[in-house]
Amino acid sequence: SRLMRWLAARKLVPKAELHIHIEGTLEPAMMLEFAARNGLPAPYPSVDAARAAYNFTDLQTFLDLYYFGCSVLRTRQDFYELAMAYFKRAAANNVVHAEETFMGGLADAARDAKQQLGITSSYIMCFRKELSDESANATLDASLPWHHQHIAAVGLDSTELGNPPSKFVQVFDKAAELGLLRVSHAGEEGPPDYVWQALKLLHVKRVDHGIRSLEDPLLMAELNATRMPLTVCPISNVKLKVYEGQVEERLRALVRSGLLVTINSDDAAYFGAYVSANYEYIAAVAGLDVLEVAQLAANSFEASFYLPGGRARRQ
Ligand code: ADE
Ligand code: ZN
Repeated sequence: SRLMRWLAARKLVPKAELHIHIEGTLEPAMMLEFAARNGLPAPYPSVDAARAAYNFTDLQTFLDLYYFGCSVLRTRQDFYELAMAYFKRAAANNVVHAEETFMGGLADAARDAKQQLGITSSYIMCFRKELSDESANATLDASLPWHHQHIAAVGLDSTELGNPPSKFVQVFDKAAELGLLRVSHAGEEGPPDYVWQALKLLHVKRVDHGIRSLEDPLLMAELNATRMPLTVCPISNVKLKVYEGQVEERLRALVRSGLLVTINSDDAAYFGAYVSANYEYIAAVAGLDVLEVAQLAANSFEASFYLPGGRARRQ
């Protein structure tokens, strides 16, 4: 029943969230608060004005506003409060484990989230695809002092079209030598070939999004045979108009494909939906019963880098 699906999505079923950009959880009220205390001009005149601006036609129109919002994040305290606000929301969504994008004072929040909320987490440091391999290398070098238990993996995000994974072979090889796991956004706006590249050239352990894999039956077979996890973000795909007009059919096909699909929020504050809302949405769109919803939650643990005892899985 609808009630059972809702309960499964919301509370009954513990889940891991594997694809959340911490800067994407910056709610407008917090953005305005941080701007004021950092002595910066307000990015928007009001919370309502920010929400009204969140009207995206594609990935790039979203990214432009996302980086504009990120500009208010300046201090260690900003990142701490941002991450703790996410962890509290996640606890209310019965998320018990989260894997997300890393910066500055986030380690304190990860420690406090474990102590205060019982949530384990690991950070994934994403390189922006529109920047160069050299710049990604410099970012990797600069991050070395923080390579302790909190960073589990490197990833690739941001502008996909025109920036194939092949650009980042060198920096991913170096990350592998450093003992980091590898993931990548691929097949969100970009073609199935970008997913192949992520698999074969970057040796990723998970594909973020990957929804365009549906266009390539051989790729679907490969993902199935290797039980490669996809971190799917249904409401993000709707809001960013991936597969305009057909996104519901595609999401239904993906969830029903038998692949190791997980459900995630991506940039919850910008899309107005945290992880439970994404479970509720996919349950409604794909007509899932309560056991199928629970299976998606089980998938999230199978695909996570978590090992019992709170350590991150290594390669
Ligand atoms: N950065 C934040 N959200 C993203 C998304 N959905 N795709 C690529 N880069 C992102
Ligand atoms: Zn993402």
